[in-house]
Amino acid sequence: MRQQLHPTILAIESSCDETSASVIQSGKVLNNVIASQAVHHKYGGVVPELASRAHQQNILQVVNEAMQSAGIKNEDLNAIAFTRGPGLMGSLVVGVSFAKGMALALGVPLIEVNHMEAHVLAHFIDEPRPQFPFLCLTVSGGHTQIVLVNDYLDMRVIGETQDDAVGEAFDKAAKMMGLPYPGGPLIDQYAKLGNPKAFKFSQTVMPDLSFSFSGIKTAFLYFLRDRKKEDENFVEKNLNDICASLQLHLVQMLLQKVKLASHQTGIKEIAIAGGVAANSGLREAMKLTAQEMNWKIFIPEFQYCTDNAAMIAMAAYYKFLAGRFCGLEVAPIANLGIGDKA
Ligand code: KG4
Ligand code: ZN
Repeated sequence: MRQQLHPTILAIESSCDETSASVIQSGKVLNNVIASQAVHHKYGGVVPELASRAHQQNILQVVNEAMQSAGIKNEDLNAIAFTRGPGLMGSLVVGVSFAKGMALALGVPLIEVNHMEAHVLAHFIDEPRPQFPFLCLTVSGGHTQIVLVNDYLDMRVIGETQDDAVGEAFDKAAKMMGLPYPGGPLIDQYAKLGNPKAFKFSQTVMPDLSFSFSGIKTAFLYFLRDRKKEDENFVEKNLNDICASLQLHLVQMLLQKVKLASHQTGIKEIAIAGGVAANSGLREAMKLTAQEMNWKIFIPEFQYCTDNAAMIAMAAYYKFLAGRFCGLEVAPIANLGIGDKA
């Protein structure tokens, strides 16, 4: 096994609807090639079967592009990393199988990466990097978690949603307003032009560090239904204000729990990660709260918020240094959790 302290690793991400590859050398990410799948837009959500097929079609080209743009040859690689889960099984299988085939052909070790841990480790791609221990609010289409991060490979979830993820709440609300998938970025865009205090929504109170987003989804459905009874063009006429109000509501729900987590742990080093970390309302609110609470905050670059292989590469680098490789028998796990020893 070619093991050293300055490894060159190819990482592959295929957990949902982005096919991505990245090369990392001596801990420095060289690139982050992403092929997004437009095929899902017209269906209002990711269609697993189509996602799997699109990964199969894209993966070779994405990997080739990452290798070529990094100026790396197959024989320069010291390991191949892949996302093991969580994610859609049919999507994960494509990346896992591709990685195994390549590792076998090149005679290099494999590294399995937990997608949610990688979202957290995206904070180590660029400066400034958080100091341990820190808290990370990880918010995506499938997850809403507060993670206590003690070290690169030592983290645990201290609070999470009991039902839907916040990204799902954004996307479902957008769908109710007739917006295409994924609706989160569109709500963000319209919210910039609207009044966040125009409409109020009731809040589900959850104990301790738990979140719940199913209540707001239903409340929003009834809100639209009732308003449309009065004016059938209510959404079209008030789109910006509705988006701004809903976004503020969701962002406040998130920040309330992060404040509580910081209070309970005494940790003031706070990061956000995952697709919803791209939300401008959340990014702004984090900055304001940081001033108020004396937090040091870490907000990743946009390309490292949504799904990407650079974060998988970063996680793989730390696993390489720790000698944590896996065998060819390793299979994807759709519901893999942070800290799970599979
Ligand atoms: O992390 P991610 O790319 O994939 C998952 O692992 O789920 O997150 C995707 C989620 C989607 O729900 C999408 O609507 C949401 O992130 N998202 C946003 C924004 N950009 C992406 N939500 C709100 N505002 C945004 N700017
Ligand atoms: Zn993700």
